Amino acid sequence: MECDLGHLTLSLPDADATRALGARLAAACPPGTLILLRGPLGAGKTTLVEGVVHALGAGHAASPTFVIAREYAGGSMPVSHLDLYRLEDPREVEDLDLGAYLRADGITLVEWPDRAPGEWPADRIEVELSIDGHGRKADVTIFGALAPIVAIDHVAAS
Ligand SMILES: Nc1ncnc2c1ncn2[C@@H]1O[C@H](COP(=O)(O)OP(=O)(O)OP(=O)(O)O)[C@@H](O)[C@H]1O
Ligand SMILES: [Mg+2]
Repeated sequence: MECDLGHLTLSLPDADATRALGARLAAACPPGTLILLRGPLGAGKTTLVEGVVHALGAGHAASPTFVIAREYAGGSMPVSHLDLYRLEDPREVEDLDLGAYLRADGITLVEWPDRAPGEWPADRIEVELSIDGHGRKADVTIFGALAPIVAIDHVAAS
């Protein structure tokens, strides 16, 4: 594990480790946090969302297969989960108000954020997941005003 101010590289040997990272992010992030999840097909993005949703007691996450967004409202903080994979053409989302899905009172997680046109808010966390043998590697970067608020050591601790 490498950890410096605002950036962290973690080895995630199995899916439970990915869920545990999600749980630590859920505990460390204030309401209003936006988390962009990057990485190829099967990298573990939805698995990380499962960890966030479970840790907040908001139920069980699943891939929003037929909808682009799913809300989990029952827990200590609401979670909004967007999966933009099927938006092949950014023009499809031009009149879709993605800003409406960004929760001020909870955590918003976005899979395939580059499918959206325009810019995401500058204050955000990015998690880049990559395949690493049988496991995964996670690069976590905290940007903007969130950097002094989210304790990276709490995200790092296993
Ligand atoms: N750290 C890990 N080590 C090994 N397997 C993992 C790890 N994290 C998740 N997985 C497994 O990888 C598979 C794909 O995970 P997941 O569906 O979360 O990927 P995804 O990034 O959301 O993919 P997609 O882009 O298709 O939505 C699942 O079987 C999951 O259990
Ligand atoms: Mg997924």
